[in-house]
Amino acid sequence: MSVSRDHPETLRAQIESRLRGAIRDGSLRPGTALPSTRDLSGQLGVSRKITVDAYAQLAAEGYLAIRQGARPRVADGPFGPEPGARPVPADPPLRYDFRPSRPDVSSFPREAWARCMREAVMEISAADLNYGDAFGVDGFRESLADYLGRVRGVVASPDRVVVTNGYLHGMGLICRTLAARGARRIALEDPSSWEEDEIVARAGLEPVRVPVDDLGLRVDALAATDADAVVVTPAHQHPTGVVLAPARRAELVAWLRERHAYAIEDDYDAEYRYDRAPVGALQGLDPDHVIYCGTASKVLAPALRLGWMVVPPALAGPLRHERMLTDQGSARIEQLAFARFLARGDLDRHLRRMRLRYRARRDALVAALAHHLPSLRVTGIAAGLHVTVPVDDQVAVARAARRVGIGLSTLADYQASGSGTGALILGYSSMSEARIRAGVAELAAVIARA
Ligand SMILES: Cc1ncc(COP(=O)(O)O)c(C=O)c1O
Repeated sequence: MSVSRDHPETLRAQIESRLRGAIRDGSLRPGTALPSTRDLSGQLGVSRKITVDAYAQLAAEGYLAIRQGARPRVADGPFGPEPGARPVPADPPLRYDFRPSRPDVSSFPREAWARCMREAVMEISAADLNYGDAFGVDGFRESLADYLGRVRGVVASPDRVVVTNGYLHGMGLICRTLAARGARRIALEDPSSWEEDEIVARAGLEPVRVPVDDLGLRVDALAATDADAVVVTPAHQHPTGVVLAPARRAELVAWLRERHAYAIEDDYDAEYRYDRAPVGALQGLDPDHVIYCGTASKVLAPALRLGWMVVPPALAGPLRHERMLTDQGSARIEQLAFARFLARGDLDRHLRRMRLRYRARRDALVAALAHHLPSLRVTGIAAGLHVTVPVDDQVAVARAARRVGIGLSTLADYQASGSGTGALILGYSSMSEARIRAGVAELAAVIARA
């Protein structure tokens, strides 16, 4: 599917009529799952509000069934053909996948993980097969406390480690816990992922966006918000790639203490830093006011649905209560498998291999961009799995790229207003160096035409 700004209909109306037409002519059958609003916005290069409104309209007309937490589906028919409808050409399949936020899952260490899973199943105790502590299996929390202290400078004791089903799950738990304690407002970086606004809002809290500049989160702007907590990505701002500067870290900690507020530190890809030593976690500066959050999604695979938090002592009791009421904890056999994976040095080994691989891919991307698009200043390259490339008309470039089978994201996908400086967000984790070079050559041609 594609939409055009030159079309007489609005972008939202175009999405609605394309989907309505496809449902009525049977190319989208009842029960078919549609992309999430975020994915659709990324594919079409439009703001998320547009796709949310289009889906809501189609649901109101009876074409879509929308259920909380699930992708929208085509409702049960039958639907008649749309009068006078002409078939709309579909976007071609992706040939070059520069979409960020995904690791190279083809490198998942299947053998090592399978060995750890088998051992975990065979050796799990009767007690651990039962419900147990909602914060997680003791052995795993001990390994995580050691690992996070060693690798990220996190101040952690096992009793403060909480195993989650990934970062977003942990963030939801924290928001509900803070709301139950009287919090009203949570600050989010601008730009940042749209899911966070919804998670905050669903906990009954008000999300407020705070701008990010070249030094990271603007703490002066944060101080003007009256927020009770703030979500930050200090090691590698998502998605700009900026590192929170030392002076800003100090300012942020001073603000947290003065306001008795909490920072939720999303340390999503800090294991990948290529050109200098890793930047330590913010949590190390103030473990009583920073909730540290990590995830297995980037270091291993999103499918594991495993993450971890290190929480201040004052939050442990209320958070345990929240956890008991929601899901009683994460899958315990996987936790034991991960504990073994850490103990055997499998994670360190895997990360050493992946850092080399990702670094080579990043170098290929940066070199190809310098060769084909020498006037563009690529940023955010020191860490993580994506870079940021400023362009004038980000949305038009993304749309034109998608039409020739190049997938990527734009800053507009993460900006509250969908405006501001334009940039492409290019992930480099999943393609070989040769594919990256070929993809950049084609992308440069798209940019030249746009
Ligand atoms: C900014 C950010 N934080 C966290 C995550 C990881 O989320 P989860 O652990 O829920 O898979 C991602 C994954 O894409 C991300 O982009």
